[in-house]
Amino acid sequence: MDLFEYQARDIFEKHGVPVLGGVVATTPEEARAGAEQLLGGQPGVVVVKAQVKVGGRGKAGGVKLARSADDAAEKATEILGMDIKGHTVHRVMIAAGAKIATEFYFSLLLDRAERRYLAMCSVEGGMDIEQLAVERPDALAKVAVDPRTGIDQAKADEIVAAAGFAPDIAPKVAAVLQTLWTVYRSEDATLVEVNPLVLTEDGEIVALDGKVTLDENAGFRHPEHADLEDAAAADPLEARAKEADLNYVKLDGEVGIIGNGAGLVMSTLDVVAYAGEKHGGVKPANFLDIGGGASAEIMAAGLHIILTDPQVKSVFVNVFGGITACDAVANGIVAALEILGDEENKPLVVRLDGNNVLEGRRILAEAGHPLVTIADTMDGGADKAAELAHAAA
Ligand SMILES: Nc1ncnc2c1ncn2[C@@H]1O[C@H](COP(=O)(O)OP(=O)(O)OP(=O)(O)O)[C@@H](O)[C@H]1O
Ligand SMILES: [Mg+2]
Repeated sequence: MDLFEYQARDIFEKHGVPVLGGVVATTPEEARAGAEQLLGGQPGVVVVKAQVKVGGRGKAGGVKLARSADDAAEKATEILGMDIKGHTVHRVMIAAGAKIATEFYFSLLLDRAERRYLAMCSVEGGMDIEQLAVERPDALAKVAVDPRTGIDQAKADEIVAAAGFAPDIAPKVAAVLQTLWTVYRSEDATLVEVNPLVLTEDGEIVALDGKVTLDENAGFRHPEHADLEDAAAADPLEARAKEADLNYVKLDGEVGIIGNGAGLVMSTLDVVAYAGEKHGGVKPANFLDIGGGASAEIMAAGLHIILTDPQVKSVFVNVFGGITACDAVANGIVAALEILGDEENKPLVVRLDGNNVLEGRRILAEAGHPLVTIADTMDGGADKAAELAHAAA
């Protein structure tokens, strides 16, 4: 899960990373109040920053200086509602203005291939870091970090030395890198990026922008992370699937898909997309892996989500019976159709194979549901489901 900058700022603060004051606002009035709070009646500068989960906000006009609370409200009016690379700005953060002497770059991320972490650091940070990485890769130090020891004093010293920090500020930067490691480690992050990390005119090191990605697999250790989710941005069907503990991803097609096992579902998406080419270009409407059990309740919950997707015109159920044999799966489907009743109003193609397949097919045939077609093969089922979706479209 990617966090907004203001959420990253709060987490940084909690772990002792030096940050400046920041207040979130969703309206110009809130922006004015936030700026008043930060300025405390003194003249000064605040920065109004678009909160979107995409890079390059500054260059897109989503980061603006304001010289008073009224000015902050005005800048917020300009930024709120702005479209930045397809992301609409619903919130801004009013940040205290920093007097920047120099901008640096730091990131720590998961290096899956090497099974460790990778720290990247540069004394030339700021908005052109991507360009720097391409044009002068030597200016971006890359240092491997062992997950067992993380960024301790020695590792922090190694990183700042590799990046070439001046000796007078190197110890201060090294100290901040260790607090950023604390964030990475104790929040179970897979990315912590600070661009820019700045040296202020007062000689302080401050994190002025933060990107944090949290590892959702570690969510069970962090019940508080659930509050960080951007409920407004989630697809409503995906949100409901998540509540039902279903592994569902909404896609942009007409053929609903249910299968058991991620690999089988992925290949089902492929064969349906392929079959769809012959049937008006229909495509898979979703990914849904109901896992090994395939009980009536799970099948009903999955079908329920898929059938409420108005884009769906037909459904392809593709299940391979293993430990849960095909007869149990077929009984699950029949019971699910009973649970759903009139809600099941779209054609359903079912392909069963594997353990006890003949009995499974017999159970489905005997139930004789008018909207259910039984397919013998995966390709045949995909073709039938695509044909039915096209006919109904
Ligand atoms: N609080 C602040 N005070 C003064 N200047 C700031 C402040 N925050 C940002 N800036 C300036 O604005 C620039 C862009 O800000 P920031 O890094 O937050 O956005 P961005 O890099 O454009 O966004 P992204 O990191 O999403 O690509 C910074 O490099 C810095 O020069
Ligand atoms: Mg930035």
